[in-house]
Amino acid sequence: MKKFKILTYGCQMNVADSERMAAQLKKIGYNSTDDFDDADLILINTCCVRESAEDRVYGKIGELKHLKRKNPKLIIGIAGCMAQKEGENLIRRAPHIDFILGTGRLNQLINIVQSFENDLIANHIVEISNVDDGFSPIADFNNNSVSSFIPIMYGCNNFCTYCIVPHVRGRERSRKPQEIISEVETAVNNGVKEITLLGQNVNSYSYGFADLLKKIDSIKNLCRLRFMTSHPKDLSDDLIKTIRDGKNICEHIHLPVQYGSDKILKKMNRIYTVEKYRQLVKKIRAEIPNVSLTTDLIVGFPGETDEDFNQTLDFIREIKFDAAYTFIYSRRSGTPAAEFEDQVDESLKHERLKKLMDVQNEISLEINEKLNGKIFEILTEGVSKTDENIFTGRTRTNKLILFKHRDEKVGDLINVKIIQPQTWILKGERI
Ligand code: SAH
Ligand code: SF4
Ligand code: F3S
Repeated sequence: MKKFKILTYGCQMNVADSERMAAQLKKIGYNSTDDFDDADLILINTCCVRESAEDRVYGKIGELKHLKRKNPKLIIGIAGCMAQKEGENLIRRAPHIDFILGTGRLNQLINIVQSFENDLIANHIVEISNVDDGFSPIADFNNNSVSSFIPIMYGCNNFCTYCIVPHVRGRERSRKPQEIISEVETAVNNGVKEITLLGQNVNSYSYGFADLLKKIDSIKNLCRLRFMTSHPKDLSDDLIKTIRDGKNICEHIHLPVQYGSDKILKKMNRIYTVEKYRQLVKKIRAEIPNVSLTTDLIVGFPGETDEDFNQTLDFIREIKFDAAYTFIYSRRSGTPAAEFEDQVDESLKHERLKKLMDVQNEISLEINEKLNGKIFEILTEGVSKTDENIFTGRTRTNKLILFKHRDEKVGDLINVKIIQPQTWILKGERI
């Protein structure tokens, strides 16, 4: 039996794509392995959203060279966003790569692998045509996972000036509701309990996102329904009410604000103002009082002054996000912001990132401390990475809970009482 190893970088969209590629490979007789040395096929699914993501991939590609020397029959493929962006360049830089598979071409994977197996190919294959070959194949859900990511749309039309995603994922296209619903049903029938619907901006789902959520919420035996990401420019009242009234729709919204000054938001092409965002949060909290809100923030965007940065600090102190993913602006060639003249000095970017994280950590801790003594239903996820006696699970609001393991199994819904809240996790005990 031949074996494959897929290594995934980047966002949940890539995780979903990797599962789909794995399903394709299983169809042609491959089994998954965790061991690189044991694999007949290695696939790296890549991200290029920041330079640091690309650096990690280049490092990994370098490490694979000696495996190819040991086993010349080994097939090495690079898929995902960086494959789409770099194409041929990757092979020029690392000739031990056999094929490049762009983001819209997942359906070609079987053909490509088979042509290498049949020695039909003397050289390399680069498959990055911009033409989308239809939607990616569906994943197979026979891997005992409790949680699954299901893409409802691909691509992005927003063109935030810093962002490479629209350039490597193409224009927005939505999957048909019926196709998504039947995929969710298949997943649930295979034991999946939690579904996260994915799109770069789910609010622009062509067939109505709130409607889709309602339909999926009524699927029997699904315990939890999540989604990401929502763009603040077009999160509808209908969606807020749907979350409020939903049965299994979790009370957590990831709502990237990116920045807290109008001047920078405008230069980022985010379409909303600080005030519009503030009003949106007010409305969400009025309708869904126990909602948790998380966000993404970028520091060091071109033209950022101390005053802009301080406005951002003030804004996160005002909004009080449950958590924030904070990034240093990374110049992506091909995007408008890469050409802006007033780039911020690297050391200043790092200084600001640290300040931003310090402020946010204080807020996260303050919010979590208020949960002390409270009881939550959590969906258990498994043994903690650092301690085998500890189990982890998440609240509907997406807070990570750690508790002493007794006889719980992965995927159990249990009640825990919070006994020790911390910044990133909360310790609890089963009741
Ligand atoms: N579609 C999603 C985000 C996808 S990228 C959305 O609009 O929210 C995930 C996050 O990476 C973004 O929210 C942004 O904060 C960050 N990001 C994107 N491009 C970046 C860049 N050039 N430098 C630093 N961070 C970036
Ligand atoms: Fe990038 Fe903006 Fe699209 Fe999100 S909405 S993927 S940040 S261009
Ligand atoms: Fe995701 Fe990275 Fe691509 S964030 S969409 S894998 S560039």
